Amino acid sequence: MKVRFYDISILPVIFLGSLLVAYSYHKLELAAEDFKCLKCHKGSRSLPNIVKEKNIKTAEELRFYIRKGPKSGLHVTVPEEDLEKAIQYLNLK
Ligand code: HEC
Repeated sequence: MKVRFYDISILPVIFLGSLLVAYSYHKLELAAEDFKCLKCHKGSRSLPNIVKEKNIKTAEELRFYIRKGPKSGLHVTVPEEDLEKAIQYLNLK
């Protein structure tokens, strides 16, 4: 049986296509996890752990802890944008 040209030429297309999909997926994942909070909050002090421990249930409570709570001094350098990202990351309302 003869191998037709299009049989071969479709292979790199599929290959490149799946690479592209994998790559953009990876980018999206990175974007979701790329905010300042996570540089300090890792492992046992991860944001989900802290939120559970402090019983933080709403975005408002989280904003309060970061901006006016006893540890707000540790968070003066955290940009507003990252606080909003953290709220999304933690699924707070
Ligand atoms: C410069 C490092 C750093 C960054 C950046 C940072 N934190 Fe913290 N955060 C700490 C430290 C240190 C503590 C106190 C020790 C602990 O509880 O782990 C803390 C405590 C907290 C607490 C508990 C507050 C309390 O009163 O006990 C919350 C909630 C919190 N961080 C959320 C965040 C969020 C959300 C962000 C991003 C918007 C963030 N942190 C960014 C270092 C940081």
